[in-house]
Amino acid sequence: MTRKVLVTGTAGFIGYHLAKLLLAEGFRVHGYDGMTDYYDVTLKQKRHSMLLQHPNFSADEGMLEDVVLLDRVADEFSPDIIVHLAAQAGVRYSLENPRTYIDANVVGTFNVMEAARRLNVQHLLMASTSSVYGANESMPFTETEKADTQLTIYAATKKANESMGHAYAHLWNLPTTMFRFFTVYGPWGRPDLALYKFVDAILDDRPIDIYNHGDMYRDFTYVDDLVRGIRLLIDSVPERPEDGVVPGGDSLSPVAPFRVVNIGNSDKVRLLDFVDAIEESLGKKAIRNYMPMQMGDVPATWADATLLQRLTGYRPQTDFRDGIARFVDWFRDYYGK
Ligand SMILES: NC(=O)c1ccc[n+]([C@@H]2O[C@H](COP(=O)([O-])OP(=O)(O)OC[C@H]3O[C@@H](n4cnc5c(N)ncnc54)[C@H](O)[C@@H]3O)[C@@H](O)[C@H]2O)c1
Repeated sequence: MTRKVLVTGTAGFIGYHLAKLLLAEGFRVHGYDGMTDYYDVTLKQKRHSMLLQHPNFSADEGMLEDVVLLDRVADEFSPDIIVHLAAQAGVRYSLENPRTYIDANVVGTFNVMEAARRLNVQHLLMASTSSVYGANESMPFTETEKADTQLTIYAATKKANESMGHAYAHLWNLPTTMFRFFTVYGPWGRPDLALYKFVDAILDDRPIDIYNHGDMYRDFTYVDDLVRGIRLLIDSVPERPEDGVVPGGDSLSPVAPFRVVNIGNSDKVRLLDFVDAIEESLGKKAIRNYMPMQMGDVPATWADATLLQRLTGYRPQTDFRDGIARFVDWFRDYYGK
């Protein structure tokens, strides 16, 4: 039987790639996206229009906060699974406009959880972020360690989602998986993220801002690897442990069918090496503007992806140089540069 997945944020970067993969794997997908103007809406419309060419894809445009519309869409589609990716994303913008994060991420996510509970879905999967590790210093970051030192409202809303998700999983026996994504990049990527900004600026002979003088490390995750991880986790449905005993290294809750899973490459890359690889791909040097660390930023993120591998047998592997080259190919083709 064809399984039905409601995916929020399908006009977004990750939602688009996930929907494409699920359709290729025979799922029926319904998208829900508010097409917010946080970045170029044309890019979102283009992603949606490509998905709409597939006979098993349908979508509604709507905000997560519009509970009447969201409920109607969810009821009509009656999904087996919900993957909730729509959110106000971005670490830096959360200093400028924190309220949109409360509205979209806290209120919006609550509305999605309510729909999932009411429709008694088999599995609710929701996006969190490596930013919840905040000021944690022991690396690589593992899901079983405490994550109580969020440094931005963005991270705080995502940590709140994890906490809300746990409560609903416990109260309603709603199997819930939260993903912690680590700096995702690839074709059709977000214009507010470093790779896009760097490529765009270098091609236009504008300087690029390199924060913390380039002494930053990120666990860059190629988008195809990330959505493969999500797809496999759909079938790894958490079960409440009967005796409350959780095997070592598993983030499963002792009192709920709830788990948090890192999806990262488990390879930390120095920002300067990342910039070198972009220059290599473009065949052009950047004008480098070295800057101090930005407020709310962290010097490094690095994922322990052991749990993902244990649950799915899969581990993201794309080398950042290959991923950057694929992004550059897409960017040049799309913008004709
Ligand atoms: N890209 C990354 O590096 C990264 C890292 C960690 C976590 N995440 C998380 O992954 C998810 C997807 O991120 P992305 O990179 O695809 O971002 P994105 O901004 O490209 O996609 C999010 C989509 O959600 C929609 N949206 C935003 N607010 C909405 C609202 N209130 N109602 C309805 N729709 C709304 C937007 O229109 C957009 O299409 C987000 O939850 C984000 O926080 C992303």
